[in-house]
Amino acid sequence: MHPDMRVIPNELIAALRTARRVTVLTGAGISAESGVPTFREAQAGLWSHYHPEDRHPDAFQRNPQLVWEWYVWRRQLVSAAQPNAGHAALAVMQTYVPQWTLITQNVDGLHQRAGSQGVIELHGSLLRYVCSARQHIVSLEAPAMGMPPVCPRCGSLVRPDVVWFGEPLPVAAMVEAFEAAAHCDVFLSIGTSGVVQPAASLPLEALAGGALTVEINPDETPLSRRVDLTLRGPAGQLLPALGRAAWPDAD
Ligand code: OAD
Repeated sequence: MHPDMRVIPNELIAALRTARRVTVLTGAGISAESGVPTFREAQAGLWSHYHPEDRHPDAFQRNPQLVWEWYVWRRQLVSAAQPNAGHAALAVMQTYVPQWTLITQNVDGLHQRAGSQGVIELHGSLLRYVCSARQHIVSLEAPAMGMPPVCPRCGSLVRPDVVWFGEPLPVAAMVEAFEAAAHCDVFLSIGTSGVVQPAASLPLEALAGGALTVEINPDETPLSRRVDLTLRGPAGQLLPALGRAAWPDAD
């Protein structure tokens, strides 16, 4: 038996094997092992010159070049990154469950690159672009440093299609995410600090709906005391172990 498999509770293995519906919420922690810094790390290290309040529509209006260049840099970072074993394990697990919903707060596209289908992107994607009026999708293969380009249709500045502070989440994604959380048999919360709303309410919705709720995270979060099970460790190790434990032919 692989050493990581010993930490997978039997209750979870049995629940996954019999589940009709599994819903998964991921956060920045699942991409940490791909070399994409989490928001927490960002505040302490690599991205500390960039303040969270700069992810705000007013900041883009005040200094579009600063905000644009930060997103160009992040896009370059995620394009150079590869999906890790955690992303890959979720894509495999999806094929064993009749109704599988993967909801992510990440904007890096790594789940899709690992092969996950139908990913719900709650906070948008930094690989897509829209005009500032959020009316026109703009196709941009290789965004460059400098001032953001202008939308060829309305002339407003182009911005990444991500959710900034104070902006509403995409309505269809929200509705689908809450429905999937409320009506699942197993809910996995992976690599998220669980403090940013409304995503942080999804595990509670699953608990209220009677799902077996599980947190996978090396550290404790506000959710840790509320879930049924916690798996402490990196997602890149625990998710492949979980997949192998539930479906031994999954490799
Ligand atoms: P955070 O940076 O707040 O939290 C990352 C979590 O991942 C922490 O709880 C870490 O302990 C955990 N973690 C670190 N390494 C891990 C690993 N290898 N495996 C599993 N977990 C690991 O990121 P999010 O919770 O995603 O919103 O942040 C939520 C939202 O806050 C983001 O989407 C962003 C931010 O403001 C917007 O931009 C709208």
